Amino acid sequence: MTDPVSESIPAVPVAPDPRDRVIIFDTTMRDGEQSPGASMSHDEKLELAKILEDMKVDVIEAGFPIASNGDFEAVRAISGIVTESVVCGLARAGMADIDRCAEAIKKAKRGRIHTFLSTSPSHRDHILHASQEDILEMITKSVTHARNLCGDVEWSAQDATRTEQDFLRRCVDAAIRAGATTINLPDTVGYSYPSEYAEMFRDVIENVDKADTVIFSTHCHNDLGLAVANSLSGLQGGARQVECAVNGIGERAGNAALEEIVMALKVRGDHLRFHTGIETQHITRASRYVSAITGFPVQFNKAIVGKNAFAHESGIHQDGMLKDRGTYEIMQPEDVGQGGSNLVMGKHSGRHAFREKLKDLGYELGANALNEAFQRFKDLADKKKHVFDDDIIALVDDALASSADKVQVKHLRVIAGTEGPQEAFLTVTIDGEEKSANATGDGPVDAVFNAIHAVVPHQAILRLFQVHAVTEGTDAQAQVSVRLEDDGRIATGTAADTDTLTASAKAYVNALNNLFARKEKSAPGKVASGF
Ligand code: KIV
Ligand code: ZN
Repeated sequence: MTDPVSESIPAVPVAPDPRDRVIIFDTTMRDGEQSPGASMSHDEKLELAKILEDMKVDVIEAGFPIASNGDFEAVRAISGIVTESVVCGLARAGMADIDRCAEAIKKAKRGRIHTFLSTSPSHRDHILHASQEDILEMITKSVTHARNLCGDVEWSAQDATRTEQDFLRRCVDAAIRAGATTINLPDTVGYSYPSEYAEMFRDVIENVDKADTVIFSTHCHNDLGLAVANSLSGLQGGARQVECAVNGIGERAGNAALEEIVMALKVRGDHLRFHTGIETQHITRASRYVSAITGFPVQFNKAIVGKNAFAHESGIHQDGMLKDRGTYEIMQPEDVGQGGSNLVMGKHSGRHAFREKLKDLGYELGANALNEAFQRFKDLADKKKHVFDDDIIALVDDALASSADKVQVKHLRVIAGTEGPQEAFLTVTIDGEEKSANATGDGPVDAVFNAIHAVVPHQAILRLFQVHAVTEGTDAQAQVSVRLEDDGRIATGTAADTDTLTASAKAYVNALNNLFARKEKSAPGKVASGF
């Protein structure tokens, strides 16, 4: 039965309760980068930090400063450019870790030290060889030290969900007494299930002294596919920060996916009373960028950001959609930055229209980058009849990724086909100076990569070669990812071009440049020949 009174009174919008504001803590560059093979270059991390800040992510965990010089430099550089989001670095419980972290975030307008210690019996016995009392002492020392260096300190109980509940309460109590401002209770091994995870928070919040003076945080791994469900459940148990990563990347099966958490809270605001400050139209851009720089493809049916997330195939669904989008769509593609009609421009479009388009897609480029991107757009429009949003995104990301590269592909000609051997003729510039070589191979891609070897001798081993079509059709751009490994260092390169072989050459060279940049950072001035 409908209620005639409530039907006649227009609904009064209820202001969101500030106590239900959820802090979005992004760990794509820290836990996400810990995914095997998902390494990001220094410049890529800076670009990603800008995207996350545009998206209004509250906290950016930019790295683990003591883990490597590269991580330290990335956290330091991000601290220097981010103005709104909190920039956070990770540290174990040791003083050297915490000092290094404090040094890395020193320039941040709003910095945070995130220090952690394992609390579960499994980790205590097998990793730390420490008693419960030892752990409590280490928490007090590490958090006190961190608080002396920074006013914003997060403490994490690693493997919290497999920790005895009474001991977990004592650990949280010690961390709060020592001055922690955020308490994170991670499901480190992705073992918990939703009601259990919520109950863990409820119990700690109800039974630990001064629990109401700190923010509690979730951090869920996806080993059983429950990371997002557990995170939402953690909020129902009293947490108000969610740690998550773009596309759900992270250790093993990954972390809770940022886009899924944010959209679940937005779309189901009727049921989950929480809200975030995220500007959701930046989600697709962030997802594509992370996929491009890590070389981790996004599965077609991935919630929110998959290629098919808003595609309607069956006749019944299409018919319903034409009558009313709400029949089969619970959110609009535009809400997450997937353009509804995405056919954009052609070769007659001018610089002004191009700049406006970039703005719509979430890019603010400086004059030089804009000129370069516009030139690339014109070249593409000459080759391709329809230029879609996705083409522009690939092209700009490509320009941003390779603009500072020491080695650049200049010309490439390949002889391919059924009659071998396939042969590639390649010219590159190295610091502006031209160098050419030709090579044969077992197929055209092999020939291209052999030619790169000839012109830029190096030891790196190819670990991944992946090709995606950016849009539909035979004139679509190919987006290629290449991952190389040299001496334990991993670097990924990407490139897009309507010619798959050209994109392959550029992606390989981009990966080599990233590898070189990494070597340079860890041993400045010692990388004589470049590679
Ligand atoms: O999964 C985990 O426990 C972590 C901590 C370091 C927060 O990543
Ligand atoms: Zn983790």
